[in-house]
Amino acid sequence: MSNHILIKNKINPFKNIIKVASDKSLSLRCVLLASVAIGVSRISNLLESEDVKNALKTIKKLGINYKKKNGVYKIEGFGLNGYNSNNKITINAGNSGTLGRLILGLCVKSKKKIKLIGDNSLSKRDFSRVIEPLKLFGVNIKSNNSYLPVEILGTEFLRPINYLENRGSAQCKSAVMLAALHAPGITKLKAKKSRNHTEILFKHLNIPLKIKSKGEYDLIELKGLNQFNSFDYQIPGDISSSAFFIVLTLLSRKSKIIIKKININERRIGIVKILNAMNSNIIFKNKKVYKGEKIADIYVKSVNKFKAINCPANFNSFAIDEFLIIFLVAAKANGISIFRNLGELNKKESPRLDIAINFLKMIGIRVKRKKDDIKIYGKPNLSLNGEYIVKNFLKDHRVFMMACIAALTFGGNWKINDKDSINTSFPKFLNILKSLGAKISWKKKIL
Ligand code: S3P
Repeated sequence: MSNHILIKNKINPFKNIIKVASDKSLSLRCVLLASVAIGVSRISNLLESEDVKNALKTIKKLGINYKKKNGVYKIEGFGLNGYNSNNKITINAGNSGTLGRLILGLCVKSKKKIKLIGDNSLSKRDFSRVIEPLKLFGVNIKSNNSYLPVEILGTEFLRPINYLENRGSAQCKSAVMLAALHAPGITKLKAKKSRNHTEILFKHLNIPLKIKSKGEYDLIELKGLNQFNSFDYQIPGDISSSAFFIVLTLLSRKSKIIIKKININERRIGIVKILNAMNSNIIFKNKKVYKGEKIADIYVKSVNKFKAINCPANFNSFAIDEFLIIFLVAAKANGISIFRNLGELNKKESPRLDIAINFLKMIGIRVKRKKDDIKIYGKPNLSLNGEYIVKNFLKDHRVFMMACIAALTFGGNWKINDKDSINTSFPKFLNILKSLGAKISWKKKIL
């Protein structure tokens, strides 16, 4: 079955107002937290992508029912011990590292063995980063040498832990926090700063939590065994999905875009800080705070000349999913951009650092790599007219979307494979591009 798109023309100037996909991190967290709250939670504007559908299937397997009515997902939880997994079950997290890691944190009291599996990409990702702290809580957990399948058998005798999370991984931090909800006493977590949606949601749910900032780290103390009530939540737009349209606009001629109602959590907007330091003028307007999260409309317009950046490594966690697309701007910048300590990029849905380097080289950009640091030698007049084929062997949604933006802004004749990968996070990506005037063709599926 053909699953590729063709792009042969740059996009023409556009001026539009768009809405992008709902935030994936918040969608997954809301589904999972609703599944252990007491009562019926109502979640609107939930992201309807494969990752979130897998989260809904997962809670269903654990005995939690949900219904969608008038666009609102109603999820009925029975509290912290409310999962009903009397038989041994298998959970398939599909492509989602966040779902796979967070759900383990919620299964620490499971009376029956739960087996966790995932797709080809997730099966190549390291789970020892959550298995190690969960073992400290006293949970029985086994893996295939740190990889899937993982089998977890909970325990009645959980103990709180002291843990250092050193990678700046919100997934690891959140898995520990979700496990700590089930443990008696106080869990203490020193975590390198990363997106803090879980902390903000916990505070909104009145879960006893103390957080102190200490340099690059947060010191988090969480008191377990407190039940919490169901909640209502309206999910805002995703900055990581907006990122493709921000860069599309920056790199296109005479264009402007407004992206409505995006979550601009301080720890998600590394991309905006980086691109503004490269001479963009991305502005937030109509700022609001919703249940502790900042929301705004994002205003972007084309830029003619970009400055290279020497990117501080402490931005990494705050732009972790956006580097692929940021590198396209570095490719056009005047000078050499430097990015450091990007090893975590190779641990995502695909080895994104390796893939980015090969991609940049394919379009004629010089890149030097020293371990996990890279230098990108920008070409301000970059314009392509060759033939380019992008094969994305692990079907990474963000690689596909990045390649589309490169094709639409740099020119050339492109065949980009694995179109269906967008279903992971942003099913309407191509429709929105077309609504801006992009000429993209693909074969309709014949059933
Ligand atoms: C996520 C955290 C990040 C990010 C992922 C979503 C989350 O992963 O890359 O797409 O929702 O917690 P790490 O926390 O492992 O860096």
